[in-house]
Amino acid sequence: MGESKSIGIVGAGWVGLVTGGCFAELGHDVVVRDVVPEKIEALGAGRLPFHEPGLPGMLERNRERLRYTTDADELGRADVLFICVQTPPTYSGDADLSYVWTALDHLPRTERRQILVMKSTVPVGTGEKVRAALEARGLTNVGYVSNPEFLAEGNAVHDFLNPDRIVVGAFHAEDGVAVEGLYSGIDAQVVRTDVGSAEMIKLAANAFLMTRISFINEIANVCEAVGADVVEVARGVGLDRRLGPHFLRAGIGYGGSCFPKDSLALKQLASNSGYHFQLLSAVIEVNELQKRRVISKLQKHLGKLRGKKVALLGLAFKPGTDDMREAPSIVLASRLLAEGAEVRAWDPVAQPGELLKGALICDSVVDAVTGADAAVIVTEWEELRGLASEQVRVAMARPLIVDGRNLLDPDETRAAGFAYEGIGRPTSEFAALPEIPEPPEGAPVGPTETS
Ligand code: UGA
Repeated sequence: MGESKSIGIVGAGWVGLVTGGCFAELGHDVVVRDVVPEKIEALGAGRLPFHEPGLPGMLERNRERLRYTTDADELGRADVLFICVQTPPTYSGDADLSYVWTALDHLPRTERRQILVMKSTVPVGTGEKVRAALEARGLTNVGYVSNPEFLAEGNAVHDFLNPDRIVVGAFHAEDGVAVEGLYSGIDAQVVRTDVGSAEMIKLAANAFLMTRISFINEIANVCEAVGADVVEVARGVGLDRRLGPHFLRAGIGYGGSCFPKDSLALKQLASNSGYHFQLLSAVIEVNELQKRRVISKLQKHLGKLRGKKVALLGLAFKPGTDDMREAPSIVLASRLLAEGAEVRAWDPVAQPGELLKGALICDSVVDAVTGADAAVIVTEWEELRGLASEQVRVAMARPLIVDGRNLLDPDETRAAGFAYEGIGRPTSEFAALPEIPEPPEGAPVGPTETS
């Protein structure tokens, strides 16, 4: 365990709270500042505004070393200040840095040496701009370090405490040493580099992960055309040590608060610098098309979707989180509704609200599949592993499962009396039930209320 420091966290969002909680766990004193009073009040009362396994317990365990405040002056006592604000995309696809600039505006003036550390994902060149802004404001006592986060939602506490690497990009070596020191107690390789390279490491890592996903999704689509099984293919490919097994799960495309926004930001960053990043453009386009492939799979079995009932199972962009940002379920639901289908949706934690306007939100899997012509696994929640049950088969109007995440075993699912369609896997003919007649044109379709 290294020396205990005083750490300020700017932004009580997901990155800020994971970062603050983990630094408190490592023995540092942490003050988390946010501009939203309700958020700070809730945190003070022990309520977390989102679902992240392990985080509530960690915040509770370290509550003597954690404070929450709206008062920016309290950050003046910190040795190191972590900027953990959101950087959403603008209309042009660039990262919106307005929250970063607001954070700078609120920096308390202090005589002591402080280090500003950027955790938020920002375009390359942001560090240089911040440094210039600090100098212009006469804040020559404030150093700057880029220390990007590599946390995956649902696993963030583990990722923080067991990282593959810690990236520290500094203008001044002593600032890098100080930030590296905060992590002593964590056994990980530290990559010390310049600020611009640290910023690019984060963007490139995410872009590469997305590239792997779009690549395996395209391989899956070819597998479907030629009769191979992408799960077997990914297993065989991933055993090559040069390639590795990670991020080779074919499915209905990536979503979330990071990949879609970061891919656009990197594409735009390249374009702003005069470079057309063709590969990344293709990765993004493949992902958009992948989300829609479920529709043609359903049409293949059900014909026109008008008036058909489709159960969407799992709504969050991935399991272990209630995050609905850029979730494929949103695109799927709106495409299905546009086709005139009735959408019944279920998730164990996510509350989609207006994002799934027009869909009927159900309390249980059985409720969602009751009377359904098809059940689509959209998010691979563990709760769905047992989907191919007698209870579900009997409840459905047609026992058709479209497994958008290749969660189920195709043979077992078929043996249980279901027609099964995965992603990039050999398909089955659907002959178990008689055809349902198409409703006449103009006939009313199912309920459209949201609950
Ligand atoms: C991602 C990165 O994994 C983190 O390293 C990074 O720090 C984070 O973005 C960020 O920039 O903040 P996250 O978006 O939380 O983390 O989740 P992932 O587990 O990476 O999944 C992203 C999406 O890819 C999900 O929709 C998931 O279903 C999809 N995915 C992932 C696949 O379709 N196939 C795979 O093989 C893996």
